[in-house]
Amino acid sequence: MSRSPIQPLPPALINRIAAGEVIERPASVVKELIENSLDADVTRIVVEVEDGGCSLIRVIDDAAGIPPSELPLAFAPHATSKLRSDEELFRIATMGFRGEALASVGAVSQARILSRTSDDSVAYEIHNRGGQIDQPQAAAGNRGTVVEVRNLFFNTPARRKFLKGSATEFGHISDTFVRLALSFPDVSFTLIHGGRTILDLPATSPQRRWLAAWPAEFADLCLPLDLRDAEISLIGLIGKPELARPTPKHQYFFLNRRCIRDRFIQHALREAYRGLIEPGRHPAAILLLSMPPQDVDVNVHPTKSEIRFRDSGRIHGLILSVIREKLLGSDLSPVALAARQIAPPVDDPVRQDMRKKLAEFFQSALPQGSFPQPDSPRPPQPAPAPAASPSPSPVPAPIPTGSVPAIQLHNCYLVVESEDGLLIIDQHALHERIMYEDLLARLSHGPLESQRLLIPLTFAASARQLELLDQIQPLLRRLGIEASPLGPTGAAIHAFPSFLHRLDPADFLRELLERGEQESLDLHHEEVLHEVLDMMACKAAVKAGDPLSPAEIEALLARRHLIDRSSNCPHGRPTTLRMTLHDLEKQFKRTGF
Ligand SMILES: Nc1ncnc2c1ncn2[C@@H]1O[C@H](COP(=O)(O)OP(=O)(O)O)[C@@H](O)[C@H]1O
Ligand SMILES: [Mg+2]
Repeated sequence: MSRSPIQPLPPALINRIAAGEVIERPASVVKELIENSLDADVTRIVVEVEDGGCSLIRVIDDAAGIPPSELPLAFAPHATSKLRSDEELFRIATMGFRGEALASVGAVSQARILSRTSDDSVAYEIHNRGGQIDQPQAAAGNRGTVVEVRNLFFNTPARRKFLKGSATEFGHISDTFVRLALSFPDVSFTLIHGGRTILDLPATSPQRRWLAAWPAEFADLCLPLDLRDAEISLIGLIGKPELARPTPKHQYFFLNRRCIRDRFIQHALREAYRGLIEPGRHPAAILLLSMPPQDVDVNVHPTKSEIRFRDSGRIHGLILSVIREKLLGSDLSPVALAARQIAPPVDDPVRQDMRKKLAEFFQSALPQGSFPQPDSPRPPQPAPAPAASPSPSPVPAPIPTGSVPAIQLHNCYLVVESEDGLLIIDQHALHERIMYEDLLARLSHGPLESQRLLIPLTFAASARQLELLDQIQPLLRRLGIEASPLGPTGAAIHAFPSFLHRLDPADFLRELLERGEQESLDLHHEEVLHEVLDMMACKAAVKAGDPLSPAEIEALLARRHLIDRSSNCPHGRPTTLRMTLHDLEKQFKRTGF
C-alpha cells in the first residue's frame, strides 16, 4: 500500500476536529455561551432556541461586551481574556479559560457575534461560517453581547445524524440551563423555545433559585445546608428521605459554581442516607461546594464537567458528616396522619371492576425465586443505621400473627395487631411497593408477558410524542408494550402487558409520552425503566378510598413480607407506621419516661 506523507492539518480542519470534543449537541453550545456571559459580569441572560437548538441558538446578555478590535480573536482558537500564565491555570476562577468554545462553535455552524461595550457608541458584528471568519462590521445593538448559532453541524453530517429529535435536544438544553441558573441566583435567566417562554427565573435568593430545580411539592420537605469555614463552604438543600427517587435526576453538584459530576460526592451523599432510604433510590440534593481554586483541577475534561480534588478524602468526609448530621438532627418522621388527604369512598362500576381485578392479581403467582429468600446468598448490604426518626417509626415488622383480624379505616389505612403493639399500614403505599417489587422481579426474568389486543387501541399524539415513541421502542419491548405511529397525529397500541390489565393502555402510553416530553426524561437511560415501573405500580395499586373486603386485606398483608425481604432497609418511604406497647404506655404516661 502506498504511503501518504505526513502533513500538518489545515487550521479549519483542526478546529472542526477539536469542536467534536467540546460541542456534542445543541445543549453544549448553550452551556458554553451562557458561561461566557456569566464570566462577563452579567445581570440578565436570555436564551432563545428553535427546533431544539438544531436550527437556532441565540444567547443575549447585558454584560461587558467585546470591543470590535477583539471580535476576530473571540472566534480564534486558543484565544482568551481569562488566562495569561501557567500559574493562573492552577487557580481558575472563571467558567471558561480554554479559549476554544467560540472557535469550536464557529467551526461547525453559521455563527454571528453582535456586541457593544459601554465605551462604544455602536455595536459591531462578526460572522463565522464553518470556520470562515469575516471582518467586524458596525451594526445596531444594545450594550452586551448576542451570540447566534444557526444550523449546528451543517458541515459535519456525521454529527448531525447523531442529533435526536427536537424534544430530546430541547430537554438537554433546559437541563443545562437550569444547572447554570442554580449557582447564579443573582442573574435573571429566561429560556424561550419556538417563541414560547419555557422558563423565566428572575434574580432571587439562593434558596428560592435552588427550589426552581425541583417539583414544587419538595419545598416543604427539604433541609438547608450551611457550612462555611475559612476555606471550604458547603451550602445547598437536601431532601428528606421520602423525596428519594429511583433515578438521581434531583441531584445537582457544584464546585465553585461549576456543575460537575463526581463519584466521590455521589458516594458521600449515598453513604449519608444509608439506612434512611431504600437501596437503589437516590436522595434529592443540591450541593454547592466552594474551595480555593488551587485545591482543585478543573482542567481534566474539555467540557469541564469532571474535576479532580487535591484531597478527595477530605471532601468525601466533609460531605458525609455534614449531611449525616443534618439528617440525624432533623425530624424525619413522615407527615402526620391527620394531614393526609383522604379520598372519599367511591363505589362506581369502575371500582367494582377494580376489586375483581385485584382479586385476580392476588391470585396470579410470581415467578419462582423472584425474591431473595432470607437465607439465600445476597450481595453485601449495609448495616441498618441507627434509628433516625422518633416513634412512631416506619419500621416494617414481621407479618402480624395477632389473633384479631386486621381492619380498614377510612377506606385508606389497615390497622393490624402485632406481637409488640400495632401497625398502621397505608394500603396504597403498601400495594404500590409490592407491585413495584413484583414488576422488577418479573422484568429480571425477561420482558413482561404481553397480550395482543384484538383491535388495536388508538390515541392522538403530537409530532413530538411520536418522535419519542420511536425512541423508546427498546424500553416498550421490555415492558411488553407494542405501539406504533398511526399517521401523523396518532398512534396505535397492539399489545400490552397482561399483568397490567387494570390500566387503560392508551391512558398509560399517553401519560408516559407526556412525561417524557415535559420532564425531558432521557428515555434511553436504564433509570427511566424504574421511573416507569414506579408509574405503573402507582397506577395499578389500590388507591386511598378503595374499600377492601376482609379477604382482600388478608391477601394484601400476606404479600407484605415481599417488600420486607426485598429491601434490607428499614427506613425507605414508609408503608407502615409501627407503635409498640411501650410507645403507647409512654403516651398514656404509664411509664416513668
Ligand atoms: N458574552 C460575552 N461577553 C463578553 N465577552 C465574551 C462573551 N463571549 C465571549 N467573550 C470573549 O471571547 C473570549 C473567547 O470565548 P471562548 O471561546 O468561550 O473562550 P473562553 O471562555 O475559554 O475564554 C472570552 O475569553 C471572552 O473574552
Ligand atoms: Mg467560554
